[in-house]
Amino acid sequence: MSYYITTPIYYVNAQPHLGHAYTTIATDVLARHMRQRGEDVFFLTGTDEHGEPVADAAHAQGVTPQELADRNAERFKALVPVLDASNDFFIRTTDAEHQRRVQEVLQRVHDNGFTYKGMYEGWYCPRCADFKVENEILEGNRCPIHEIVLELHQEENWFFALSAFQERLEALYAEHRDFVMPPARYNEALSFITSGLQDISLSRKRLKWGVTVPWDPEHVFYVWFDALLNYYTALGYARPGEDLTDRFWPATYHIIGKDILKFHTVFWPAMLMAADLAIPHHVFVHGFLLGADGRKMSKSLGNVLDPFQVIDQFGTDALRFYLMRDVAFGADGAVGMEAVTARYEAELANDYGNLASRSIAMITRYRDGVVPDAPTDPALAAEFDGLCERVSALLDRAEVHTALEEIWLRIRRCNRYVEERAPWTLARDPATASQLDQTLASLAEGLRVISVLLAAYMPTSTSRLLDALGAPDTSIAGAAFAPTGGGRTVSPLEPLFPKR
Ligand code: MSP
Repeated sequence: MSYYITTPIYYVNAQPHLGHAYTTIATDVLARHMRQRGEDVFFLTGTDEHGEPVADAAHAQGVTPQELADRNAERFKALVPVLDASNDFFIRTTDAEHQRRVQEVLQRVHDNGFTYKGMYEGWYCPRCADFKVENEILEGNRCPIHEIVLELHQEENWFFALSAFQERLEALYAEHRDFVMPPARYNEALSFITSGLQDISLSRKRLKWGVTVPWDPEHVFYVWFDALLNYYTALGYARPGEDLTDRFWPATYHIIGKDILKFHTVFWPAMLMAADLAIPHHVFVHGFLLGADGRKMSKSLGNVLDPFQVIDQFGTDALRFYLMRDVAFGADGAVGMEAVTARYEAELANDYGNLASRSIAMITRYRDGVVPDAPTDPALAAEFDGLCERVSALLDRAEVHTALEEIWLRIRRCNRYVEERAPWTLARDPATASQLDQTLASLAEGLRVISVLLAAYMPTSTSRLLDALGAPDTSIAGAAFAPTGGGRTVSPLEPLFPKR
């Protein structure tokens, strides 16, 4: 089965920060998990480089928009391997191939009769690059996201006949209740639609930094149309000489933050309908990371969690784990360095790291480093019954947080098992040798299954551990708890999560 998953493409007028890292990591967990399941995966991320904010930022810095875009796109591109994200392509909206395809698709929207020229007057937020409709505007004519005062803009535009899609969008929502997830976001998007859709700007005349409108070259496309189409255009040129569109379109999941819900859940499906293209299966909308004080992260409040600092101090796996663990996916959540440290010590070093090191140490000490080829304990095996299926089902719904909790419960269970069985006592008496065999075989097996399931979250540490267990295979078929220990040889393991 093909599985195509995307992150938003990030604006190059800012520096990469934790919010971007968060979306990219969650998306990567899903992509990696699906690869473990043998699915045909394509994972796309990239940068959004056109539009007024970029042009303005370039102007302020005395460089051309292209220079600014080139410089900052590099920073976003460099972040991807730092996060250990396994994207299959990195799209830049200044790619010539992207621009050509944007023109092609939107020409079709035009030919299909869904555009017209008109005068636009409205309240515009330059930071969002978006005109706000009445029910979005805050008191004092302010942007609901940036809280800055909106500007009254009047200009000649090409319009996209969004209102023509009211019924088809309502039908889409009625037939596909999981088009937008989680359900609260589905309701939010649907109520935006049912409250009545207004046509939206498709082009800008004043602006030069964008994709030229092919039927009216004095205009460039409004940046959001150019940006949203990245999900579609990338498939056409990500692999030189090969067109992946038929293989991967429509996308399985767009993972986005709640700030860009309207664009992905209303404008985007309408645009695709207007161009006769298939609609993606799901848009998953996650919440915002907040400062440890529960307020919006901002440098001036001094409550920003710096992803690079977390990585320097604790490593990439720890950052990935922390973000998936501490914030319910879909809800807002406060994050901070103290919580990172606490989770690192209590859960990574103690729960998981300690289970790994003591299991391997006991196999080494009591059984010369060979996992006994003895029957595993049915009581412990029962605790793993259906685990892989449950984790898979949760990740089918992009529930990265709940799936991780399911796995973590088994880590805790295995640690309790060590205490209950007290292998150090069993080792003292030859009469309990077979019980010791069973205990060690069960622990090695539990640890292996857990690590296969955790591989999508923490690829580096789990791979070190699975290698030490002599069982490097991470395919999901291996996440079933085996009836015997297997007789594999373990090798020494440096602490996975050393004290910091
Ligand atoms: N360029 C547009 C998206 C176009 S997609 C066709 C854009 N870019 S952005 O750089 O502002 O990135 C927004 C996204 O970054 C959010 O939707 C979210 O995925 C992520 N986040 C940015 N700040 C965030 C938090 N504070 N918390 C969680 N995620 C956030 O919008």
